[in-house]
Amino acid sequence: MRKIIAGNWKLNLNPTEVRSFLKEWSQLKLTSNHQIVVFPTAISAEATAQSISEFKLNLEWGLQNSWVETKGAFTGENSSQMAQAMGARWSLIGHSERRSLLGESDELLNRKLHSAVQLGLQPMFCIGEGLEERKSNRTFAVLAQQLENGLKAFSVNSEIVIAYEPVWAIGTGVVATPEQVTETHLWIHQWLQDRSFAQARILYGGSVKPENAQQLLHIPHVDGLLVGGASLKPADFFRIAQA
Ligand code: PGA
Repeated sequence: MRKIIAGNWKLNLNPTEVRSFLKEWSQLKLTSNHQIVVFPTAISAEATAQSISEFKLNLEWGLQNSWVETKGAFTGENSSQMAQAMGARWSLIGHSERRSLLGESDELLNRKLHSAVQLGLQPMFCIGEGLEERKSNRTFAVLAQQLENGLKAFSVNSEIVIAYEPVWAIGTGVVATPEQVTETHLWIHQWLQDRSFAQARILYGGSVKPENAQQLLHIPHVDGLLVGGASLKPADFFRIAQA
């Protein structure tokens, strides 16, 4: 199966910057067969869609957040359906920053996952333990709860894309060790297998850099990478996408 290299641009890259990023990207000749996905801000979604078409890029995109309903009285929210009409294929759901800063609960994330699937968007569902949880050996209990609640009432035939991002590795420069990634990805793979999810891919995220991408991608059950900081510069993201 193709690996996924996803860039989470967070609250960065305005429409002009997205255009110049993608213009530069179009001049770098990607030879790897990975599926490349970017998550712009909603404000830069149109610039993303237009640049992909203008520069004829083999690139998919999605919103970093969207509401469970597609329209209505939800001030300040984004609609997956509107994004989809603009060409979005993905929806990022449950990123740790939204869980911690915006208080998004497992129950809400489950509704968001269902709503994305109903629209035909591919959710990328983020899970991960905090530092205290890892230190006190609660990693698997935390992940089990996030998976159990997030994937509640999901069809086993759905295509599942999980991004495992240990919270302590996000934006800190501290990448999980190969042993930690190996053990955790195997555990998530097993969890999904035990519940008969037939089509699942598991991405690793947290301080992915051009220097460690290759090694991470060689770990069993690492089906791709979710990249934050290092996805903001075309040259860095390109080196990761070529890994
Ligand atoms: P980082 O972020 O690569 O900057 O650690 C990853 C993420 O938040 O998805």
